[in-house]
Amino acid sequence: MAAPKKLYIKTYGCQMNVYDSERMAEALEGYEETSTPDDADMILLNTCHIREKAAEKIYSELGRYKHLKAENPDLKIGVAGCVAQAEGKEIMRRQPMVDLVVGPQSYHRLPELEAKARGGEKALDTDFPEEMKFDHLPKRAGLGAKKLPKRGPTAFLTVQEGCDKFCAFCVVPYTRGAEVSRPAARVLEEARGLVERGVREITLLGQNVNAYHGAGEDGGDWSLARLIWALDKIDGLERIRFTTSHPNDMSEDLIAAHGDCAKLMPYLHLPVQSGSDRVLKKMNRKHTAEQYIRLIERIRAARPDILISGDFIVGFPGESDADFEDTMSLVREVRYGQCYSFKYSPRPGTPAAEREMVDTGVASERLTRLQTLLTEQQRAIQDDMVGCEVKVLFERKGRLDDQMVGKSEYLHAVHVTAEGVAMGDLRRVRITESGPNSLGGVLA
Ligand code: 5AD
Ligand code: SF4
Repeated sequence: MAAPKKLYIKTYGCQMNVYDSERMAEALEGYEETSTPDDADMILLNTCHIREKAAEKIYSELGRYKHLKAENPDLKIGVAGCVAQAEGKEIMRRQPMVDLVVGPQSYHRLPELEAKARGGEKALDTDFPEEMKFDHLPKRAGLGAKKLPKRGPTAFLTVQEGCDKFCAFCVVPYTRGAEVSRPAARVLEEARGLVERGVREITLLGQNVNAYHGAGEDGGDWSLARLIWALDKIDGLERIRFTTSHPNDMSEDLIAAHGDCAKLMPYLHLPVQSGSDRVLKKMNRKHTAEQYIRLIERIRAARPDILISGDFIVGFPGESDADFEDTMSLVREVRYGQCYSFKYSPRPGTPAAEREMVDTGVASERLTRLQTLLTEQQRAIQDDMVGCEVKVLFERKGRLDDQMVGKSEYLHAVHVTAEGVAMGDLRRVRITESGPNSLGGVLA
């Protein structure tokens, strides 16, 4: 048998890209992954288009591979992901060393595209095919599955993809397409396969994951909560998470699950983007700041210790000083345990890209103020954990001898120095210290 060819994948952006990269690696028969581009037979960049300079980053990364291509004419270079979807044709034209371009909805066609590229042709597929890629990618478990190796204790699992919300700043509806949910049976089968390979925590992924409405095993449409309850029954699966959610799709059954389902972790990423009703309207978010705050209250009533995480955009076109102060007030009211905040970046093809920009200096100043507040909140919540007991799922070795690092229920990174802790162990830990980005503790 010929030695496997080497595949190097570099992944940018969100967790869905991390998941997609795994699936692409599995789909490419005859390849084995390598951690460096230097000895690769194929380099695949899985790209992100959500914020600025996406394409420039890819061009400069490609530049670094020029000498590799010169040394090894058989090396194939591919661009996948959202930049490929948005600008794939242009990339191929401008950068002749790219052999293959594949959009996020066409990954199941990757083996054909790879064969075409190997044959010396340029291969490009940025269609939104009728068929769903997941139905055509090799199965990860069950009949016909290729034997996949053991893996770490946590995994992502895409259950829903695309978005129909059309927030005025966002490229996702254009790069990932319309909202599609995978059938529940396929998700459950994949989850069981992951658990057999050693996974104890699964994070369900979707651009709008809480809008999940997949075909159920009983014929009806299943909500995300229904799917979570079915996953709850899988022996060996200890933890369930999901991300990212839209406030308008936080249904009653999902809120209730946060109180009732022990495997569903007390962490919720629920972006609001702005605290000003005027800006929310311009963003086409279809909810008010007040509605969001009331929603958080209901979620906290179901699960009082839940840690709330969010995303904010500052300097959205038309954002005034007063609008920004509304964002600061909302943040003070909600108290975030984790948060991501960005300066608005116009994305070509989105409605807001046509509008007049806020002065960039003003936007930067707002971002600094917001991030200072968010960091304070995050740190205060972390510091409050000192003296508490949490349960940690250990995922990797730390830098020190006998140090292991894992995640608490609240997704805080926790490090512990102790003998006899193995990857995949779920252990009680008493928190003894709070650092800038992690907690330290001792086995309880
Ligand atoms: N500019 C800045 N931030 C953006 N995001 C999405 N689009 C843009 C944009 N054009 C942020 C949002 C979203 C997160 C994934 O990225 O906050 O929730
Ligand atoms: Fe983008 Fe809005 Fe859809 Fe989220 S809900 S993916 S921000 S359009």
